[in-house]
Amino acid sequence: MGPIGIFDSGYGGLTILAEIKRRLPDFDYLYLGDNARAPYGSRSFDVVYDFTLQAVKELFRQGCHLVILACNTASAKALRSIQQHDLPEIDPTRRVLGVIIPTVEALGNLSESRHVGVVATPGTVLSHSYSIETAKLFPDIGVTEVACPMWVPLIENNEADSPGADYFVEKYCREVMRTDPLIDTLLLGCTHYPLLYRKIRREMPDRVKIVPQGQLVAESLADYLQRHPEMAQQCTRGGSMSFLTTENPEKFNSLAGLFLQQPVDSRRIQLG
Ligand code: DGL
Repeated sequence: MGPIGIFDSGYGGLTILAEIKRRLPDFDYLYLGDNARAPYGSRSFDVVYDFTLQAVKELFRQGCHLVILACNTASAKALRSIQQHDLPEIDPTRRVLGVIIPTVEALGNLSESRHVGVVATPGTVLSHSYSIETAKLFPDIGVTEVACPMWVPLIENNEADSPGADYFVEKYCREVMRTDPLIDTLLLGCTHYPLLYRKIRREMPDRVKIVPQGQLVAESLADYLQRHPEMAQQCTRGGSMSFLTTENPEKFNSLAGLFLQQPVDSRRIQLG
């Protein structure tokens, strides 16, 4: 038995962890941020896959039986290969889940105009995972994907609240509405972006719903654990959260504390 593992390239996955913890407070959680190598958003497929696989193996080594890739870029570029090729070899009883499918599943009830915008990292947009998965479940919904390469670096450098961030938020929000003015729902397809929520809300027309993923992923995980009691039994219940980072722990603690609004005490590890 072990904690539920939550992985992200950096701090963004903490927005998912916060919602999962709210929804499923009794489980233990082990968060791993590959902060030393973040952001992943502009990295190539092979590199994101290698880094993500290293992180998953580390979380397995730490005792996790279930790992959530709380990162759209990793979910888009590595999840399928890990599920299909690596898991059967490493340990077929363990599971790795992503954030894109649970988010897309919720889309059907969210958009009335059937025009949806997705803001995400360049890697996620280039993979077209959101368009592809939406077309499978809701062929009547049109998806406009816009890459926002500057948003993660701003957040990782604690500049999300600065006036400098306004320029880049306005730039990409305008691009979304220019590309498809009929959009009524904007998905935040990157786990970092809830940190820019207030600025995005200000830039988008009032009629457009802004949808972060945290609650959708948390709800989907609760449902998964109910449908898979054999996996729920492998997850320890002590209500704890522990943190691993590949960067300096003091640096991680101070920024992660802002994301989670509570003190964080992390430990450094090396991947690869
Ligand atoms: N938080 C990650 C995501 O959801 C990405 C960030 C990165 O570029 O590292 O895509």
